Amino acid sequence: MTRKRVFSGIQPSGDIHIGNYMGALRNWVAMQDDYETVYCVVDLHALTLPQVPSALAEARLRTAKILLAAGIDPKRSLVYLQSQVPQHAELSWILGTLASMGHLGRMTQYKEKLDKGGQNLGLFSYPVLMAADILVHRVHAVPVGNDQTQHLEFTRDLVDRFNSRYGDYFPMPEQITPGLGARVMSLKEPTSKMSKSDPDGSSRILVTDDADTIRRKVRRAVTDSEARVAYDVERKPGISNLLDILAVFTGNTVEELADRHAGSGYGQLKETVAEAVATGLAPVREAYLGLGDGEVQGLMDEGAAEAGERAERTMVEVRRLIGLSN
Ligand code: TYM
Repeated sequence: MTRKRVFSGIQPSGDIHIGNYMGALRNWVAMQDDYETVYCVVDLHALTLPQVPSALAEARLRTAKILLAAGIDPKRSLVYLQSQVPQHAELSWILGTLASMGHLGRMTQYKEKLDKGGQNLGLFSYPVLMAADILVHRVHAVPVGNDQTQHLEFTRDLVDRFNSRYGDYFPMPEQITPGLGARVMSLKEPTSKMSKSDPDGSSRILVTDDADTIRRKVRRAVTDSEARVAYDVERKPGISNLLDILAVFTGNTVEELADRHAGSGYGQLKETVAEAVATGLAPVREAYLGLGDGEVQGLMDEGAAEAGERAERTMVEVRRLIGLSN
C-alpha cells in the first residue's frame, strides 16, 4: 500500500519557538513513521517582509538546522529550501491566474500585516505560493498549527477551480492540526498567539534556548492575580497556556495536570513547566549545536535535487493540462 503524502513549510523569519514546535514540528517528526513526508524552509515567503540579505541567508540555514535537530531525518523525509526548487514559483504564477482576489483580501494574516505597515504584491498573493508548495507535491495532507486554517481553505478552493477547469488532477489536501498545542499563546500577552515577529523576545521560548533562559522566560510569564491553578482559557489564559505547554512536554492531559497542581502556587507550576520544557528541548539544542553549516547545506542541496525532480514531474502534467506544451 502506498503511504499518504504530506507537505508542510516553515518560514525562516526570526527564530523557531515552542509554538512552531508544538503546533507543527513535533508532528512533522512523528508523521515520518506513517506518511511520505516532505518539509520545506519557505524562504521565498520570508521575502514578503523586508529582509537583510545576509541575515536571510543565515536564517534559512539555521532554520534547516533546527528541522534536522528536532528529528526530521533526511533519510526518511524530503527536506529542502523552497527557493532551490523553482517549480514552486512557476506553479504559483499559474495558480494565481485562478485565484479570487476577494478571497485573498479577506485573509486575516494579510490584514494583520497590512496593519503593521507592510504593502506589497507578495504579501497579498502569499497564500497562492503556499498552495503551490502543497500542490507541486500533490499531497493529501498538511500538518500545521491552527493559524494556517484560512490558507488551507484557500488552497482547497484553488484545487476546486483547477480541477473543474482542467480535469481532476490535484488531490484535495486535508489539514492536520494537533489536538493540543495548535495555538500556543505569547508568554507576555496570553490572549495573542506566540509569534516570531513579536518585538518582545521574552514572549516566546526558542527551541534552541538553554535551560536558564527557559526558566527566566517562564518565571516572567504573565498569569493572573487569582493564585489558583485551573484550566480556563477564557478567564485564565496565562495559566491555561502554561498547562497546555506542560501537557505537550509531559504527555499528560491538561485535566490531570490542573488537578495535580490545584494546590500549588504559580511559582511552583512555573518551575515544573520550565523543567519539563528544558528537559524536552535539551536534545534538540544539543543536536543543533552539533550540526555544521556545510553539512546542512549539503543535505539541503541533495533534498532540492530530489524535490526538483518530483516537482518537475507535476509541472510536466500541469503544463500539458493547461496548454503550455505541444
Ligand atoms: P510559520 O513559519 O509562521 O509557522 C510554522 C508552523 O508553526 C505553526 N505555528 C504555531 N502553532 C501553534 N502555536 C503558535 N503560536 C504557532 N505559531 C506558528 C504554524 O501554524 C505553522 O504550521 N504560511 C506558513 C508557512 C508555509 C506553509 C506552506 C505551511 C508556507 N507554505 C505550505 C504549510 C504548507 C507559515 O507562515 O508558517
